[in-house]
Amino acid sequence: MLEGKIFYKGSFIEAGIEIDNGRIKRIGKLVKGKKVQGIILPAGIDVHVHFRDFEEKRKETIETGSLSALHGGICLVVDQPNTKPPVDNEDIYFKRMEIAERKSYVDYSLNLALTKNNADRIEDVLRRISARYHLPAIGEVFLENKNKKLEVGYEELSKVKGIWRISVHAEDPSLVKSGFPNFLYRPKEAEIIAVRKCLDISNFHFCHLSTREAVEIVEKTASSFEVAPHHILLSTRDFERLGNLVNVNPPLRDKGDAEWLLKNFSRIKILTSDHAPHTIEDKESGSPGFPGVETMYPIFLRLAKLGIIDLRDLVEKIARNPAKLFGFSDYGEIEVGKFANFAVFDLKDVRKIKAEDLHSKCSWTPYEGFEAIFPKMVFIRGEEVLESRTRIGRTISSHFSSGKEI
Ligand code: DOR
Ligand code: ZN
Repeated sequence: MLEGKIFYKGSFIEAGIEIDNGRIKRIGKLVKGKKVQGIILPAGIDVHVHFRDFEEKRKETIETGSLSALHGGICLVVDQPNTKPPVDNEDIYFKRMEIAERKSYVDYSLNLALTKNNADRIEDVLRRISARYHLPAIGEVFLENKNKKLEVGYEELSKVKGIWRISVHAEDPSLVKSGFPNFLYRPKEAEIIAVRKCLDISNFHFCHLSTREAVEIVEKTASSFEVAPHHILLSTRDFERLGNLVNVNPPLRDKGDAEWLLKNFSRIKILTSDHAPHTIEDKESGSPGFPGVETMYPIFLRLAKLGIIDLRDLVEKIARNPAKLFGFSDYGEIEVGKFANFAVFDLKDVRKIKAEDLHSKCSWTPYEGFEAIFPKMVFIRGEEVLESRTRIGRTISSHFSSGKEI
């Protein structure tokens, strides 16, 4: 039981929350409990993280990535399957879930990769996985990417159309060249054209859109999309500051594009970190990706406090919409019947981000020196887990599913 200033149905109320068996049983002024200082928001959901592990433990592990998520006020992550080796069959999927069950600090879910290895038996793989786990999406589909293991074309996408949410990294490979800094070699058109080609086939979930044009095209359709913090907060101008660290896919865009995304924050469906940790050495040889699962909620909460974005929008994009879109029906809101997942923030406690304070194994951040408001407490299914560092994370089994089974 707790009591405090709760974000409930879009505004704040002073009330208590009764928790029973990890779920919210009652919310009301008459409910008494331990007084919590600060504001109580729904804990965040990040549906796009790369926690590496397997053969890339030097970059990140499920353990370190999820600890970083926890310190960023995130209670549930969806991990991406472009691991080494990739998650493209049921055995490796189950193996990864077993690691998460032992190591994760937050609730954990995993997308399946669609690759040449599984394209001809994809329905069978889906059926076997979904008998045990809630599968949010067939994800991390790189369109005819150079990476042989993940080389899948538009045709394979159409085979699974209409069955699962399919998340696409939309950059047309024929328009992408390699070179450093990569923003000079991966033009906006690569994204815009890939989005158009995909929409000719079906509706998708578009990962981290980075251009105004792509957002404007996708929002007119039944497809969903996400935007990552770095495409809103950073631009090609940060090359001066970031130097060798600057590469990310899709690349940073011009200042005007980032400003447009910030100004139109309310139109974004989902905010995801695309937490893609690489070691400094790997960055120096050009690896694309930024860590971000720990800094996303804190930086955007600071922007909400400053009135640059609306707090209701933030909660919608970081908790409510991802829960709805990916079928996590017990998550995303402080509401009777849902899991008691909260992040508690003291809005007066503004801190400058320092890589050394963060918990990702990669040991750097593109947001060094940015102002942020980190959570004071995080509750997952009713248990305070930030201070206590309780490893409570659970995988999401198929009985949580939103009826998306085949
Ligand atoms: O910059 C990126 N890094 N973009 C992606 O889409 C993948 C990611 C990674 O896995 O490193
Ligand atoms: Zn990604």
